[in-house]
Amino acid sequence: MKISFSDISVGKSGALAVVVTEGATMTGALGDLDRKTGGAIKRAIKATDFTGKSGSILDLVTPQGLMVSRLLLMGVGKASAATATTMENLGGDLVGRLERDKETAAAIIVDGVSNARLRAEDAAAHVAFGAKLRSYRFDKYKSKKKDDPVPMKTLSVGTKVAAGARKAYSTFEKIADGMFLTRDLVNEPPNVLFPKEFARRARALSKVGVKVEVLGEAQMHKLGMGSLLGVGQGSERESQLVVMRWNGGKPGDKPVAFVGKGVCFDTGGISLKPPAGMEDMKGDMGGAACVTGLMHALAARKAKVNAVGVIGVVENMPDGNAQRPGDIVTSMSGQTIEIINTDAEGRLVLADALHYTEKRFQPKFMIDLATLTGAIMVALGKEYAGLFSNDDLLSKQLAEAGEAENEKVWRMPMGPAYDKAINSQFADMKNTGGRDGGSITAAQFLLRFVKSTKWAHLDIAGTAMASPKSSINQSWGSGWGVRLLNRLVADHYEG
Ligand code: BES
Ligand code: MN
Ligand code: ZN
Repeated sequence: MKISFSDISVGKSGALAVVVTEGATMTGALGDLDRKTGGAIKRAIKATDFTGKSGSILDLVTPQGLMVSRLLLMGVGKASAATATTMENLGGDLVGRLERDKETAAAIIVDGVSNARLRAEDAAAHVAFGAKLRSYRFDKYKSKKKDDPVPMKTLSVGTKVAAGARKAYSTFEKIADGMFLTRDLVNEPPNVLFPKEFARRARALSKVGVKVEVLGEAQMHKLGMGSLLGVGQGSERESQLVVMRWNGGKPGDKPVAFVGKGVCFDTGGISLKPPAGMEDMKGDMGGAACVTGLMHALAARKAKVNAVGVIGVVENMPDGNAQRPGDIVTSMSGQTIEIINTDAEGRLVLADALHYTEKRFQPKFMIDLATLTGAIMVALGKEYAGLFSNDDLLSKQLAEAGEAENEKVWRMPMGPAYDKAINSQFADMKNTGGRDGGSITAAQFLLRFVKSTKWAHLDIAGTAMASPKSSINQSWGSGWGVRLLNRLVADHYEG
């Protein structure tokens, strides 16, 4: 869908929408339209219960006096209460409605919505952002599309502050591109997106200026990454470590670092998972997908920051060479790990990826993202991701960015009492800490591979995949985390 911005005008074809504030008074653009239609808008509102409440829509088909196919009145609630999220949901709802009605070209007038927290140009830009996010689809594997909603081709946003809105949206568009990359990676089936194919797609980020290196098993072996390699050893597909670097900051300035779990498929290994729902484990690379989409967004918008993204990409399979419960592996850090359950594989991948990142880059902070535990969904559901950290300031910055972007995180406790649950009688540690506090003992495991760097871990098992459908997301893979971390960088680590 192509999105453009212009002054307020009324086209001669396609659909027209107009944002209506609560009370639906006939002022501004709405008043003009009411006059053009000989008072049809006022009469329609009187004949229904439409009052302009947020989320409500009134559809006037072929309104007299206009050449458009339909006029949609889109309620936004009180202008004083409007937020970025309100406007994005409205843009998303518009696209959902028009696709259902097979309208492929539309215009929306955004007039009279601004307040102390939301400038008029941002209100219009967020409508466009929501529309864009809603327009995503992943239907490349459907050979018959005839019953599906028809994709929209063009959306024109009419506003008195078109230049400002266009500028704000040009950044949003790049963030959306990053999110779409993340959604695509999560949605792809595991026979298509195996580790080498993931690495190939990450390499394509070089076209936006990201430097990409890919390490194969031989190189990881040399580095001593026994923890990561043990997870992939039961797979026919070669494990990969991908390092992405965007240098938009001052030369020599320490980078910020993002580390992702990229398990392209998680069968559980020898500790095999039960069949029900196992197909969802194609999304177990959601952390790595988020890091890749984020690096794309940062580079595309030329963020003034040095950033690295490191992803460990493997497949967890049970074959004759697979790792066993009872095996002891040596990580790159030198610490040894007794494998208790081969299904607790994500932490094994991250152990080496985190150590490698800290040692090579000495970053300002490391944030890892992983679909790490089912237990985080038991604790938080799908509304919040779990946040675990050794740093209060970084935690606060993440929590604030999450509220602002509506990708929320909730900080969970950590401490020595949890840490001791992963002591092993045979090795330095074991890879599970029992059922109690399962997400926390997983985080304690990760912390043992962080020496002195500010670190946060986001357990995104509930937010990265099998996402609830919303106004701005209809996709199984949500792209969660790209907006959050882009905002964290923009607010605190640029310039
Ligand atoms: N990838 C899973 C976690 C997961 C479960 C993500 C459901 C998304 C949806 C992870 O590798 C795993 O299997 N974790 C185990 C850990 C346990 C064996 C200690 C779990 O959560 O059961
Ligand atoms: Mn697992
Ligand atoms: Zn997993």
